[in-house]
Amino acid sequence: MANAYALGEAASRTTGQVDALFLFITVVSLFFFLLVEGLLIYFAIRYRKRKGAEPSETPDIRGSLFLETVWILIPTIVVASFFYYGYMVFRDIRTPPPGATDIHVVGRQWLFEFRYPDGSSSINELRVPAGGPLKLILSSDDVIHSFYIPAYRLKQDMVPGQYTTLYLHPDKAGTYYILCAEYCGVAHSTMRAKLIVMEPDAYAAWREKKKAPAALSLAEQGKGLVEKSGCLGCHALEGKEKIGPNLGQDFGRKVLLEDGTSVTANEEYLRESILDPKAKVVKGYPAVMPTFKESLSPDDVGAIIAYLKSLSGDKEKDGKKEGEKGVGKEEREGKEAPSAQKGKELAETLGCLGCHSVDGSVRVGPSFEGLFGRQVEFEGGGKATADEAYLRESINLPRAKVVKGFPDVMPEFKGKISEEDLSAIIAYLKTLKQ
Ligand code: CUA
Repeated sequence: MANAYALGEAASRTTGQVDALFLFITVVSLFFFLLVEGLLIYFAIRYRKRKGAEPSETPDIRGSLFLETVWILIPTIVVASFFYYGYMVFRDIRTPPPGATDIHVVGRQWLFEFRYPDGSSSINELRVPAGGPLKLILSSDDVIHSFYIPAYRLKQDMVPGQYTTLYLHPDKAGTYYILCAEYCGVAHSTMRAKLIVMEPDAYAAWREKKKAPAALSLAEQGKGLVEKSGCLGCHALEGKEKIGPNLGQDFGRKVLLEDGTSVTANEEYLRESILDPKAKVVKGYPAVMPTFKESLSPDDVGAIIAYLKSLSGDKEKDGKKEGEKGVGKEEREGKEAPSAQKGKELAETLGCLGCHSVDGSVRVGPSFEGLFGRQVEFEGGGKATADEAYLRESINLPRAKVVKGFPDVMPEFKGKISEEDLSAIIAYLKTLKQ
């Protein structure tokens, strides 16, 4: 049954649940379809007009309470069972298991970026240990994307200016595709990432080997932002309240609002309350908080929410992270020579080839073929030779010098890829000289 829908193997608990539900609905629907159509055909033949038969009057039947009851009751039960079964599966898939690790995912034309609790990030590759439940907090920087893992049968829209969430149960080690399932522009079909689920031992070894994560964990970055942005002027962490509610309260609690309704203090509520504080004012507090829309980037908001969550429980998890940090820092050195082969792989996995061809044809951006060493003209005048310094700048901060005739849509890779990876990509571009 794992392959019943040609969507790949059963890679997660959710796969079996969704497939079983689909099979149930299909089999029940098929049964009634065959029953109704079968009877229709049978009656049409059985009661057809026969040659030579005298026309007779149709019997005058005035309804049957029994029949009416049966054909109201049976479809009602069938449809209610679809709903009930579907709801149970939905609830199970949507309810986070305790201790889930938060990972922020940002969709962008045309790549996925993952931000981990330790402050590190990756592009188009989500690497996780098997068995550890994950909570993905999804958002988009531009248009609506859809985060889809066929092998898990899970899909969720990524909406600009809003958080949505998805829970993953990576049960089985392996590599699975993550696809964008919402048409989001010319390179939509190339927008995909890999979900790499590793055995916990192998994962720990990989983490150990992979150089240092960012200097600060996501929650620590958030702490700095909270201090810098003046939040603590009005919000105490705990103890005596200041002007606004204390920050150290339980994440996920129910909050009573000024208008009498209540909401759950989840990621989306906190995000909205930072960017648009007047939208949902907590009962008993003045509506005086300013918006932070202009001063905080989406990444900053994510970090602050990670910090707020760390204040409510999960203390031991935080301690562990700080322990790991010390190890990483010493291993930061150790550079390899840039290799064109590695650069080629990176150009594929980072999604560069979604917009840049290697055969001279024009996609969204200039072709990589013959790019190195060429004269390029810029939007708004100016010229330069596409040398190493130019390529480096164009990958880090693409908006600085946009090539004439091409749209200004490439995302920044600064801080998202390592210096070695950058060198490898440039080494690869050099090999594509004509
Ligand atoms: Cu992103 Cu389609």
